[in-house]
Amino acid sequence: MKRTLLLFALVFATALTAVADKGMWLPSLISSRIKDMKSKGFKLSAEDIYSINKASLKDAVVLFDGGCTGEIVSEKGLLLTNHHCGYDAIQALSSVEHDYLTNGFWAMSHAEELHCPGLKVHILVRMEEVTDRIAAGETRDDIIAKAEAEGVGYRARVESMYYGNEAYLFIYREFNDVRLVGTPPSAIGKFGADNDNWIWPRHTGDFSVFRIYANENNEPAEYSADNRPYTPARHFEISTKGINEGDFTMIYGFPGNTQEYITSDAVSYIAEISDPTKIELRTKRLDIIGAAQATSPAIRLQYAAKHANIANAWKKWQGEVLGINRLGTFDKKVAYEERFRKENPDKAYLLDSLTAAYKRNVEGYFNYELFSETLRGIELQQVVRIARHPKLTAEEKQAAAELFYKDFVAEVDRNLAVAMLTAYEKLSSYCSEELKALLDSHGGAQGYAEWLYDNTALGTIEGFNIETIESDPMAAFVDAIEPIQQRIRAYTYRNLSNIPDIERWFRPYVKALMEWDKERAFFPDANLTLRVAYGKVAGYEYADGEYHLPQTTLEGIMAKDNPEIYDYNIPQSLRDVYATKDYGRWGVEMYGKYTVPVCFIATNHTTGGNSGSPVLNGRGELIGINFDRTWLSTMSDIEFDETLCRNIICDIRYVLFVIDKVGGAEWLIEEMGL
Ligand code: ARG
Ligand code: GLU
Repeated sequence: MKRTLLLFALVFATALTAVADKGMWLPSLISSRIKDMKSKGFKLSAEDIYSINKASLKDAVVLFDGGCTGEIVSEKGLLLTNHHCGYDAIQALSSVEHDYLTNGFWAMSHAEELHCPGLKVHILVRMEEVTDRIAAGETRDDIIAKAEAEGVGYRARVESMYYGNEAYLFIYREFNDVRLVGTPPSAIGKFGADNDNWIWPRHTGDFSVFRIYANENNEPAEYSADNRPYTPARHFEISTKGINEGDFTMIYGFPGNTQEYITSDAVSYIAEISDPTKIELRTKRLDIIGAAQATSPAIRLQYAAKHANIANAWKKWQGEVLGINRLGTFDKKVAYEERFRKENPDKAYLLDSLTAAYKRNVEGYFNYELFSETLRGIELQQVVRIARHPKLTAEEKQAAAELFYKDFVAEVDRNLAVAMLTAYEKLSSYCSEELKALLDSHGGAQGYAEWLYDNTALGTIEGFNIETIESDPMAAFVDAIEPIQQRIRAYTYRNLSNIPDIERWFRPYVKALMEWDKERAFFPDANLTLRVAYGKVAGYEYADGEYHLPQTTLEGIMAKDNPEIYDYNIPQSLRDVYATKDYGRWGVEMYGKYTVPVCFIATNHTTGGNSGSPVLNGRGELIGINFDRTWLSTMSDIEFDETLCRNIICDIRYVLFVIDKVGGAEWLIEEMGL
């Protein structure tokens, strides 16, 4: 009896105090969440996360290459991010003689670190709300210009939150001397590749190591041999103590795009039109590329990154549609909207206006997505754009073209063009007169595409000639799709709901929601600005009776290891270490075995852009690098399901193990203070 009472009290108490782990919070406003964070195991203060008066954790987080996150882990600007985030830079530095993708790379001194031309990182100086300044008549450009004049290498952006109800200024320092320090071979960094992508249990060592360089005043500077490692205001300490189910976790990074507040109209567009169409189109492209890859190892390499990029969202959208249907997101939205109408009759017109705005814009947005997925996927048009580029010199154009042709096979592109033009002809309502004329004069898309590739001289680098390119039929193709591009320009927004004509109604609607729904914890949708999300290490029920443990180990890598399958063929050095069990200080007893921890999952609310983000324990110490979500989480940009959604993290101990035992780069471990 007593026991039952106690149990009742416990259940009741948690029901009252439990706040969902959902949400991506602005660091400057994190004080509003600190109480909840502390109740879940966070030991630091809001000022430790973000401060403009003293060094704080935010000084150790970077926006990496404009779309990923990275974290600084030493006082000499050493930077960790994902392997898939550093991939382009690593590929650009690789050649047949120095194939860093296949073999990995480890600098053994600063002198051996490799400059990555074009690679930039941004570190937030501060953020502040500028809603009032804009209301008072200052323009965004004025605000940005003022902010950028404040310091060397300053770059500023003004971003809308809550569909324009609030505006925030973000000031960054932009560093463009970034160097590659180390990367594991792809057999570790991409282990499992597309097969394992979006899947748990996972065994990918998805990390790479870079360093930020600065001038003698520790300011951003162009690359120079005289530059020195950047001294950050703050770097992350690393914890190798390990993690347990239930432990507090926090993620600090740059999530790119969520759609938490969209209405049922947008959900049905995504689940019934947009995702299915894009999936089908990408299936065609992947089939064509995959078939070509199967015929030749050279083509497999040339199209590896392209294939992975296309496959990533393709796979995610499939999970997203399943998830939306499984959760009944559409019906939930409809019910929520009905409640809103009933309880706010004077504001019901907002929903009507939103529906009308969607109706006005959905065709344009669909045509924009269709264009991106079909005509833009025809690669050879890029050399025409290179030749026409207004800012490049002739030598630069030649160099850009060489880079393009390095990973290009005309026969593959011809097949892509046939399939994509055929699909575009069938599905588009925005086709230009010019393109129609070209298609018609060759008996339709198929005939035109064949004719185009039979007659262009641009199939190989030898045919690339800036002087004569304008008379090539590929130039006429680019001209014919230009009017379509002009037309879709009105719809090139982050998502359907960000189109100004729709957002205009979203602004008062979301404002009304915030005034009305006091139960809901409102956070601004992700928009590639710095956010904090927190939760805990946790397994989950994958299917009836099938529980997924929250951690994986080296045993799982060995179980998947297969020299016959490219994506599961681990380096011999890793097999050797496993054979001797010589794990050094990285070995642990886990699941009843002496092994090395590899990946873990947690309940942090994340999305694309969070790749490479630092995952921290309650003391703000680095315990891992975020790189993915699980299959049942792929719809979380639209509906985050607390019980099932998990982000996937590479355990920092595996990162250190690989640097040490596979890379032999002990000097980096020392530099990280271990
Ligand atoms: N799914 C992860 C993310 O969205 C990893 C992507 C990289 N891996 C790949 N196979 N494409 O970006
Ligand atoms: N892999 C994603 C990225 O590149 C992060 C994972 C996700 O989308 O959750 O940002």
